[in-house]
Amino acid sequence: MGAFEDVRSASMTDREEFWLAAAKALDWYRPPERALDEDDPPFYRWFPGGELNVAYNALDRHVAGGRGGQAALIHDSPVTGTRRTYTYAELTDEVARFAGVLRGLGVGKGDRVVVYLPMVPEAVVAMLACARLGAVHSVVFGGFAAHELAVRIDDATPKVVVSASCGIEGGRILEYKPLLDRALGLSAHRPAACVILQRPQVRAAMGPADVDWAEAMAAAVPTLPVPVRSSDPLYVLYTSGTTGKPKGVVRDSGGYATALAWSMTGVYDVGPGQAIFTASDVGWVVGHSYIVYGPLLTGATTVLYEGKPVGTPDAGQFWRVCAEHGVRSLFTAPTAFRALRKEDPHGEYARRYALSGLKYLFLAGERLDPETYHWAADLLGIPVIDHWWQTETGWPIVGNPVGVELLPVKPGSPAKPMPGWDIQVIDADGAPVRPGEDGAIVARLPLPPGALLTLWNDDDRFVRSYLSAFDGCYLTGDAGHIDSDGYVFVMGRTDDVINVAGHRLSTGAMEEVLATHPDVAECAVIGVADPLKGQVPRGFVVLKAGVDGDDEGYRRQLRDELVGLVRDRIGAVASLKQVTVVAALPKTRSGKILRKTMRGIADGLDEPVPATIEDAGVLESLRAVLRGQAR
Ligand code: COA
Ligand code: AMP
Repeated sequence: MGAFEDVRSASMTDREEFWLAAAKALDWYRPPERALDEDDPPFYRWFPGGELNVAYNALDRHVAGGRGGQAALIHDSPVTGTRRTYTYAELTDEVARFAGVLRGLGVGKGDRVVVYLPMVPEAVVAMLACARLGAVHSVVFGGFAAHELAVRIDDATPKVVVSASCGIEGGRILEYKPLLDRALGLSAHRPAACVILQRPQVRAAMGPADVDWAEAMAAAVPTLPVPVRSSDPLYVLYTSGTTGKPKGVVRDSGGYATALAWSMTGVYDVGPGQAIFTASDVGWVVGHSYIVYGPLLTGATTVLYEGKPVGTPDAGQFWRVCAEHGVRSLFTAPTAFRALRKEDPHGEYARRYALSGLKYLFLAGERLDPETYHWAADLLGIPVIDHWWQTETGWPIVGNPVGVELLPVKPGSPAKPMPGWDIQVIDADGAPVRPGEDGAIVARLPLPPGALLTLWNDDDRFVRSYLSAFDGCYLTGDAGHIDSDGYVFVMGRTDDVINVAGHRLSTGAMEEVLATHPDVAECAVIGVADPLKGQVPRGFVVLKAGVDGDDEGYRRQLRDELVGLVRDRIGAVASLKQVTVVAALPKTRSGKILRKTMRGIADGLDEPVPATIEDAGVLESLRAVLRGQAR
């Protein structure tokens, strides 16, 4: 057996011993005596009896251990032309003081704080300050519109919202405060206060319940970390489900911190004093786990990059950051590499920088197409590691554990299940399929530490969405196969979730928005393949009887209105640009829209006509539309 097989097999056969040993990477106020609490399946809890503070583990203990002068966080912001390094001692101090600000506003253990911030150090400070108090943060990605923010505010019912005057998107300044004010106008819940970071680019107009970040920090009293139970929630992170109501993934404290600590060495091969650059956003799970918590729990240096892979100002910025900050592991989404390749096909920018310190490139968030894999591998001459995971799982399900052993890479596969993940591919009846055969990818319960505990305020939806389809299994929502060497191939989602530029979005949510237009009788949104973003949404609408859809001018205006509606309700990040008026949508005889068939046709597959179809002619017209033969 290889080194990794030994590790994996220990995690499965000696689960208690394996994870209790992994938990020793942390400092506990009360060390756990047991790894897994199985008393209330399917609600498993990791490290019952254990007590810790995640922010203490991410900060104070490194200062106490002599790393106070080492860089903890480097904010590198080509869009503002600034760079700032926080040592562990400085970051600990900032976090302790901001925890004092939050406490002064009434935030205590278990209270929620919504964080709606761009990629600024204050986002990390706010998250860790919550963790210090045992409060639960919920970070909302800046690309979401006011309505989406309002939905999250109503679900999380935060005591405080932390935001900023603006973010910088490429070359544009985006004012956040008007969005926040609009969201608060839409939400039923009222936070007690909003803390606003005034950035030099724009000053936000402040209201009576608004608190200025800088003023509050100047008067703040630093606060000590509060011990919490291992199973107490660290954060809620909303992610797209199949409807307009996002799912609030609840993450625990001890299990998550343990899994991240293991993965930093086992998966990313980054240790104390080494630098990792995760080019994502703190609003996504990748940002939570590998910009903020993972690197800091390990005592590494994390780079917080405010910019894009291209255009801010050029395709050389990732390489500059890697060279300047001595980055060992770079982690981003395949889309970013497709953008780099488009802009700089021969990798000339990369050759301008000294990249000898860069040991690995990690890619996740969407399927890594073999073409992008080969381009990156040829350009950099280092291992390019695909790994598969989800907001729900918090850390990789399947990957190539380079910190233990570099497994041979098979382009198209993220390699093998990580410790604790019992991954199987099953057919529609729940029976395991043969190697190489496609089916639904599931994980047998219990899930390893780090995976979601439940959905915020909704145990029923947690069970319904993930655990009820196949007994004893977590349904990942992805389909694929496992080959005879045990390599997992993840081919795509089986539900209404799409991945656009590595951003997870719900086509169901977009349909709900399109359906609100007074002229729309029914609609469908599907993900179609896109050479840059992997997938982009495409909408189809059927008009109400009596609406004259023949006029080209009307159609153009309708398209603009529908695109505008989605942008306004969900956000620019939805990237819905194309909406087509069709005479009818393909349906089964029982009236279900054949979205899967539509997706297949859009992807150019030779999709068979389902036996249950109501009217095969409708499908043929759609085929023609998608092939560009009709309007
Ligand atoms: N705040 C506000 N708006 C945002 C935003 C944010 N944080 N992030 C994206 N948007 C906006 C963009 O400005 C764009 O608006 P536009 O339609 O007015 O131009 C829209 O949302 C779509 O954004 P995106 O899909 O990111 O497209 P893009 O053309 O701006 O950039 C890439 C394309 C490939 C450069 C970019 O998608 C990228 O860097 N992807 C990397 C993926 C990644 O980091 N994923 C995270 C998971 S690991
Ligand atoms: P998110 O919750 O935003 O991380 O999105 C999770 C989804 O992204 C998964 O369910 C997959 O559909 C997709 N995904 C993430 N990483 C990969 C990968 N390496 N290969 C294929 N799909 C991936």
